[in-house]
Amino acid sequence: MKLEEIFQTYRENIQPTYNKIPLVFVKGKGSKLWDLQGKVYLDFFPGWGVGSLGHCHPKVMQGVRDQIGKLIFVPNNYYHPFQAKLAKELIYLSFPGKVFFANSGAEANEAAIKLARKFGSARGRYEIITFENAFHGRTLAALAATGQKKYQAGFEPIPEGFKQVKFNDLEAVKNAVGEKTAAIMLELVQGEGGVNPAGKDFVLGLRKICDENKILLIIDEVQTGIGRTGRMFCYQGYGIIPDVMTLAKALGGGLPIGAMIAKKEFADLLTPGTHASTFGGGPVICRAALGVLKAMDKEKVLNNCRKTGDYLLEKLSGLKDKYPVIKEVRGIGLMLGVELNIPGKQIVQDAMERGLLINCTHDNVLRLMPALNITLKEAGQGFNILKAVLKNL
Ligand SMILES: Cc1ncc(COP(=O)(O)O)c(C=O)c1O
Repeated sequence: MKLEEIFQTYRENIQPTYNKIPLVFVKGKGSKLWDLQGKVYLDFFPGWGVGSLGHCHPKVMQGVRDQIGKLIFVPNNYYHPFQAKLAKELIYLSFPGKVFFANSGAEANEAAIKLARKFGSARGRYEIITFENAFHGRTLAALAATGQKKYQAGFEPIPEGFKQVKFNDLEAVKNAVGEKTAAIMLELVQGEGGVNPAGKDFVLGLRKICDENKILLIIDEVQTGIGRTGRMFCYQGYGIIPDVMTLAKALGGGLPIGAMIAKKEFADLLTPGTHASTFGGGPVICRAALGVLKAMDKEKVLNNCRKTGDYLLEKLSGLKDKYPVIKEVRGIGLMLGVELNIPGKQIVQDAMERGLLINCTHDNVLRLMPALNITLKEAGQGFNILKAVLKNL
């Protein structure tokens, strides 16, 4: 198919749920992407957080290829070795507990919400406190947890039982907790909401509130998890352990997976028949995820993330004095945000024309989430393109 034919076929046959960028990609390797006409792009936002190892990492491809040749799928009423292996690995890397496997971030969060309701049901507790500017996914309960009117409009009635309070405001949380509260749920760095890190005291305070009120602390690590902030899980930098954690995006190395991990004492609440997923944790995706975890370990990816993250944060912060359109530079590891005084759309477009792919969220926050194994040289190249775009504004 030629370029225009592809666009037209999409327009005529695919529901228009996405704002499309007119690029057709056909090949990827590491931090590089090739479009249909052979132009190469440096990808500073691989797969919306999915591509933490860049595109087509050999360890992911190797596991997938091998598994596809043997057995593609095993339903969840049987066993296969690789779901066992992946669950054991995730528990080893996080905290004593058990995993439920799903296919996406929203599904992992749905599972967490159901677990919280089951947990609270004996005491008549069902309400979940979430935060302004949060993003937890597009299914109805995840949308209710997200709480943002712009995503909810037109889909009412939104499921009840969710209460949004101000992010990083412990007093607001204390005031919101009541006899119906079952859980508090948050991202430690709000991604879609504009790359807003939670304060350390705030998170320690939330842990205390949850302990005192015997309610669950659910951490949504769909975007921050699997190394994005320079630690395997972002909560590890806050000195707390969540009761429930959700993962997706980077865990599958490009294939769809979601996981909800619950601490041991809450891990048997969802009993047979109360929750399920046909595809969750199938052998091919588990092989891909095991490849991701192996690469993270063997290739010292977390070290590289911290090193290149510090480098980019410093370089970007240096631009703030030079270019008054930059209001603030923030982030942890390789989850970086550049807040502007102007809309970011044109900058994303200009960067794309110069061969750099970035994202803009919340209208005015440039979001940079390069692969965690990006080289310093590639990081520098991307930075130079962005600098040239800002200079030319
Ligand atoms: C923090 C967070 N939670 C949940 C989701 C939803 O994930 P998915 O699109 O895989 O359903 C996202 C997606 O961007 C996310 O960033």
